[in-house]
Amino acid sequence: MKASQLLIGGKWQDASTGATIDMVSPSDGKKIGMIADASAENVHAAVAAARRAFEGYWSTFSALERGRLMHKLSELINTHHEELTQCEAADTGKPLSQARADVTVCARYFEFYGGAADKLHGEVIPYLEGHQVTVLREPRGVVGHIIPWNYPVSMFGRTIGPALATGNTCVLKPAEEACLGVVRLAELACEAGFPDGVINVITGHGETAGAALSSHSDVDFLSFTGSPEVGTLIQIAAAKNHTPCVLELGGKSPQIVFADAEPEAAIQAILKAIVQNAGQTCSAGSRVLVQRSIYEPFVHALAKQFSALKVGPHSEDLNCGGLISQVQKERVEKFLNLATIEGLEIAAEGTIVASADPNGFFVKPTLFSLVPEKSALAREEVFGPVLSAIPFDDEMDAIRIANDSDYGLVAGVWTENGGRQMRMAKRLRVGQVFINSYGAGGGVELPFGGVKKSGHGREKGFEAMREFTIAKTVVQVHG
Ligand code: NAI
Ligand code: MG
Repeated sequence: MKASQLLIGGKWQDASTGATIDMVSPSDGKKIGMIADASAENVHAAVAAARRAFEGYWSTFSALERGRLMHKLSELINTHHEELTQCEAADTGKPLSQARADVTVCARYFEFYGGAADKLHGEVIPYLEGHQVTVLREPRGVVGHIIPWNYPVSMFGRTIGPALATGNTCVLKPAEEACLGVVRLAELACEAGFPDGVINVITGHGETAGAALSSHSDVDFLSFTGSPEVGTLIQIAAAKNHTPCVLELGGKSPQIVFADAEPEAAIQAILKAIVQNAGQTCSAGSRVLVQRSIYEPFVHALAKQFSALKVGPHSEDLNCGGLISQVQKERVEKFLNLATIEGLEIAAEGTIVASADPNGFFVKPTLFSLVPEKSALAREEVFGPVLSAIPFDDEMDAIRIANDSDYGLVAGVWTENGGRQMRMAKRLRVGQVFINSYGAGGGVELPFGGVKKSGHGREKGFEAMREFTIAKTVVQVHG
């Protein structure tokens, strides 16, 4: 088996040390590939290549030309849709139809940002007589992107799409647990014709390659998605160089169901928001707050459908696949054991299908009821298919419980009362609110990001393009 290589300055190459990392399928624990394990030396070379590309030819590309290249990549992704889907499903363990949706989203990012490249405008500011003030939006320069393993293919588009559209060059470090799809996307980017050094991909470990990138003094901006713990490390490393960053660090997002909600629509969305990618989603709806007057019948109806959930290998395309790794499986099991010790009530469990390989990283989806607000299940990000139901009394109580969290990423509000919908939307301390729907991250056009421990800065939509640019004010005296 040959290891995939690093893409540095347009050249595919092995790690300078020759080191590799085995890639394992979450569906059966078997080795499915190998990646190069980039050294700090490789990271330095990638940053230098990105710098050369930024200072050189990339700055001579017009926004229109950048956009056209991105459209070309979007088309190539669609041409290779099925191949990328199979690769992403095997690599991450997610059911095929979920991987398919991720590939579609990735193509959509390049379509959206390709079209947006020449539509981010500067400003003209009225100032003193005889003066002309123009605010230019300029690229930041070399951007370091560190992404996780839960949505590698779609995050490739989410993070480098807006960076490229605004004229930056990129050094991307995907996660060591899953990145085969990202390597394939980088090959397609070369085929699309991005000049050498505009997109560099350095696969490898977080503690080495990731740390070398986040502490690099020649990186102008950092974009990170992952755990709050590593987010802190990255911010500290970035601070030493005064490098600004965008951080997206997960959540404990509530779905809030009022007595007047349409129950069936709410139940379908609640199930999807916790089983998608087996709960390993930053915007997973992992708390369901239900108004006390309907708590019992609603949780009963939810439990009935929850018990029908099926878990198994990605190829069988069930509700959930395996978790990314044995480590992640053990992490989720720790939460389940803690809940048992606390004596929490299990309202429903899904099933691991008989055909599932015992060496796969499967866990049963579990719905807990009457979860105390202070318990770990109500407060911590489990990152698995575990849902906690919590009752509330009225609007103020729902706001209090929803906002009583270290996190603040997304919230869902289920009510037919229009006034309440907007009151809730305004009072929830999160970055996205869905009313009578739940998008688990939403479309590529929608600004996305958190408050508090969920991070800061915004991805997606035009907001992300503003993050990847700086405003430069030019004052001209023309008399
Ligand atoms: P992680 O934060 O360690 O991994 C995310 C990325 O950061 C990977 O590319 C990794 O290689 C890199 N990284 C790790 N250590 C680094 C360092 N010292 N310097 C620079 N880069 C580094 O997340 P992990 O350990 O895989 O998962 C642990 C928990 O984090 C999960 O259970 C989940 O709760 C949360 N998480 C949240 C994600 C989200 O989408 N918000 C994604 C992944 C994990
Ligand atoms: Mg980690």
